[in-house]
Amino acid sequence: MAAVVQGVPAGLPLDLEAIDADLARRQEGYGRGGRMKIETDRVEVLSGLKGGVTLGSPLTLLVRNKDSVIEKLPQVAAPRPGHADLAGCMKYGHRDGRAVLERASARETAPRVAAGAVARQLLAPFGIEVFAYVLEVGGVPASPPDGQSLWDAAGDRRHEVRAASAFHGLDPELEEAWIGAVDAAREQKDSLGGVFEVRVSGLPPGLGSYQAGPDRLTARLGAALFSIPAIKGVEVGLGFEAGRRPGSRVHDPILPAEGGSTRFRRGSNRAGGLEGGLTTGEDLVLRAAMKPIPSLRQGMPSVDMESGEARDATYQRSDVTSVPAASVVAEAVVALALAEAFLDKYGGDSFEQVRASWDYHRGQLRDL
Ligand SMILES: Cc1cc2nc3c(=O)[nH]c(=O)nc-3n(C[C@H](O)[C@H](O)[C@H](O)COP(=O)(O)O)c2cc1C
Repeated sequence: MAAVVQGVPAGLPLDLEAIDADLARRQEGYGRGGRMKIETDRVEVLSGLKGGVTLGSPLTLLVRNKDSVIEKLPQVAAPRPGHADLAGCMKYGHRDGRAVLERASARETAPRVAAGAVARQLLAPFGIEVFAYVLEVGGVPASPPDGQSLWDAAGDRRHEVRAASAFHGLDPELEEAWIGAVDAAREQKDSLGGVFEVRVSGLPPGLGSYQAGPDRLTARLGAALFSIPAIKGVEVGLGFEAGRRPGSRVHDPILPAEGGSTRFRRGSNRAGGLEGGLTTGEDLVLRAAMKPIPSLRQGMPSVDMESGEARDATYQRSDVTSVPAASVVAEAVVALALAEAFLDKYGGDSFEQVRASWDYHRGQLRDL
């Protein structure tokens, strides 16, 4: 599968090993099934790069499938509830769910992770980091230390802590409970969903727009997260909790500041780094909920597409949970949405021009 990334300025050195490292992280996580063991994803760059540096032309990123070709795969006779199988067959007039599922499968998130890794490399030189971690698996929530988020508690050790986790989490105390939940679900031939958080630090204020609804960064980030298969809910900052509190306990005080990059600071970040469809300069805090995998070994009621008889849904080799993998995909789609917003504001043909535009805005903010 391939992704074509357009609009990357010329002159950005690309680290292909870092792209492969993100692809590898997408394949990790406790509870993953057979397909992940077959495929070790690697990116191949087919266009847009010379001597490891971007040319400004479209970047074509190929991630090959190694396991099988559609012609050799068996028919999917009874659609799986929770997947695109039935709605897809009804849309196109197919009787074989196979015609739907190979494209509807989350395998397409692999090239998106590669594209997201490019976006991360565009943002990194400006000090912008996108970092996701798992908060809940199968209804077992991570338990932050009193009064602190797991993100704050991990601090600068966050990469290390997450790399040591079998779930891309930040709560080592919880690993056993999550492993137990996944093992129990596997035993019961069931599957599990969960919740993850995406944090973005180092963002400048003013990315996004309030000029038209669809341009609001909030809308673009929501669309990015909802573009991941199986995502059923997205929150920004306080999220649904913001609808339950009075305004005085929702909005973030604006305070004078000295010696920083602007003359303002915020007393809190309950907004999750977005106000009016724009970044505020505080960390972006997004959370998303993923439903459990729809391919169940225990079976789910379905109908044979040929005979019309009731039978169990066709089982496809599958994960028990893909929440850790989805958190890596979330990093990618958030990085892509932010890179787009970043280039809307600071864009130029070359990386040097982008840098100059960024420097100009930094000066403007200091003098505001
Ligand atoms: C990274 C990732 C891996 C997934 N792995 C599987 C899987 O192994 N088996 C499966 O049935 N669904 C898997 N899914 C979920 C399906 O793709 C998803 O449930 C399906 O597309 C329908 O979801 P929707 O109704 O939200 O679009 C995975 C999703 C993601 C994001």
